[in-house]
Amino acid sequence: MIASAPGKIILFGEHAVVYGRHAIVSAINLRCRVKVRRAREFKIKSQIGVTGLDFRVHPYVSFAVKRFGEVFNLSGAQIEIESDIPIGSGLGSSGAVIVATIKALSAEFGIEMSREEIFEMAKQVEIDVQGRASGIDPFISTYGGAWLFPERRELNVPFEFFVINMGRRSTAEMVSKVAVLKKQHPEITEKIFDAIDRISIEASRNMGDKETIKRLISINQSLLRAIGVSTPEIDRVIAELERRGLNAKITGAGGGGCLFGILEGVIPENSIVVRCGEEGVRIEDE
Ligand code: MEV
Repeated sequence: MIASAPGKIILFGEHAVVYGRHAIVSAINLRCRVKVRRAREFKIKSQIGVTGLDFRVHPYVSFAVKRFGEVFNLSGAQIEIESDIPIGSGLGSSGAVIVATIKALSAEFGIEMSREEIFEMAKQVEIDVQGRASGIDPFISTYGGAWLFPERRELNVPFEFFVINMGRRSTAEMVSKVAVLKKQHPEITEKIFDAIDRISIEASRNMGDKETIKRLISINQSLLRAIGVSTPEIDRVIAELERRGLNAKITGAGGGGCLFGILEGVIPENSIVVRCGEEGVRIEDE
């Protein structure tokens, strides 16, 4: 069986969402496809390499298999991964591969799982690998669409976005960097999270208003910089875009990864264009 799940763009609220604040997230038109076949042993094939269950090389898929196996008893499977989503870039490659793996395993082994069950298992897998996670990535890869999270209010995002990839980094490292800052300066960090929370809520109420959304993108980026997840290189590219009237921010964990802004006219250099509100996890034709 083949299942596919979408990547995502966090419009507002990354990091703060790990501490219970609101975020806005949308599924995008880049997908990860996972093919599962019954087999005697476990084999995982991806652009990273070919392994058995390997918690270092293929942590997300291996933990997905482990968690699935704890509930449904599994002795072997051949798993092939193919993805349009750049790895470790903030566009939800990990969430998408976990969700598509669980869906393909359940379909191949004839087990009914609701979207909520897939999401709950995928969220656990993300925590297995990252230690701390809000669940926003597996949520959006499972359900698709665009949402105010965690309260699950569905939104219409009437824009296309340009996305610039600034290179690979580790979400777990960035999440623990913020956890350290929060320990060192709890009151300041909590206030920044509160401000980010307000940004997400105001954005959810003004999603059709391009100028407001652009302004909120800039404020959110400044706050991400304040909690240490921007980089001098990202700041430089964003300043360059701002000189041309384009507001941009990091999406996802930062420290590299992707930045995005509303697409207006010319597509900026080195960027791809993404659409929002795409469908969640689904079975694909063989
Ligand atoms: C990662 O896509 C988003 C973070 O907020 C982590 C999380 O929510 O689990 C950085």
